[in-house]
Amino acid sequence: MGRKAILDLLAERPGEFVSGEMMSQHLNLTRAAVWKQIQALKALGFEVDSQTKSGYRLVKLPLALDEWILERELRTNALGRELHLFDTLPSTNDWMKDAARNGGAHGLVAIAKEQGEGRGRQKRCWVSPRGGLWFSVLLKPQLSLADAAKLTLVASISVADGIEAATGISLGIKWPNDLLFEGRKVVGILGEVAGEWNTVQSIVLGIGINANLSRQQIGDDISADTLQAILGRPMNLNTLTARILEHLEVDVEVLERQGFSSLRQRWLHRAVGIGTQAQINQGSEVFTGTFQGISEDGELILAVEGGEKVFAAGEVSVRSERGTYFQ
Ligand code: BTN
Repeated sequence: MGRKAILDLLAERPGEFVSGEMMSQHLNLTRAAVWKQIQALKALGFEVDSQTKSGYRLVKLPLALDEWILERELRTNALGRELHLFDTLPSTNDWMKDAARNGGAHGLVAIAKEQGEGRGRQKRCWVSPRGGLWFSVLLKPQLSLADAAKLTLVASISVADGIEAATGISLGIKWPNDLLFEGRKVVGILGEVAGEWNTVQSIVLGIGINANLSRQQIGDDISADTLQAILGRPMNLNTLTARILEHLEVDVEVLERQGFSSLRQRWLHRAVGIGTQAQINQGSEVFTGTFQGISEDGELILAVEGGEKVFAAGEVSVRSERGTYFQ
């Protein structure tokens, strides 16, 4: 409380010194308590100038995740209006599924600075060290079951647009929702249903972004990359989160009001691998053909001998021309 109130006071007067005396009166804290809070802010990466006579001045905000900065950055109506930032969690998706069962509201967001048991698709684990952006959003959209199933496709567009707005980096989408830079995966999205499909739909969207991490931190995996390595510098994770949530909020509304068709065009615009050979494994069957894009229902379309075949996400694994596995 004291920390946020101090930041509010400093932020009200950008570039100006605010006296310790004034702060202590305003916040009903002793001068020593104000000083202590300022030291705590500095430890969190806030740059604050202190001058014995003039007081304190906020010079620079940290790039690391911070609730106060996030709240100020965020321009959304629902998404992230209730937001929990954890130092560490086993998995933000697991936390959010519990929250959904306990009546969590549409737009609730949970972010963890690190995850101990981050989960990926196909029951794989998701390496989630500090510096990455690991978060989950609870959505209770007004959608048919069929359209709700397209939310992870929509999320891939929103996350790519949010990343582009915050960093200038343009990522491609690998079906159904991996985000790649020059063939290397930078973002993974895990959509899960919390509760029953036939009750009010609660969908948990888990988004994992290799953001302020070095390539070594993600295990020098040649099929993965990080935004920091691509940019050559770390980025502000608060701005990144805010831009993603803003894009996601608008795109979910578009899906609700207009359906998937206009979003499908935007997905296709970012899609990688259209026109290339792909091999699809569905159970014990293997299909080879040319990747054509996605249908109005979000299914993968493969041109095979004698016509076209469509495949739903989750049922298949895809092997691209270059021999890399995706699913
Ligand atoms: C994938 O396999 O591509 C999906 C990875 C999803 C990772 C994110 S990180 C935040 C959220 N919490 C999890 O445990 N997983 C998702």
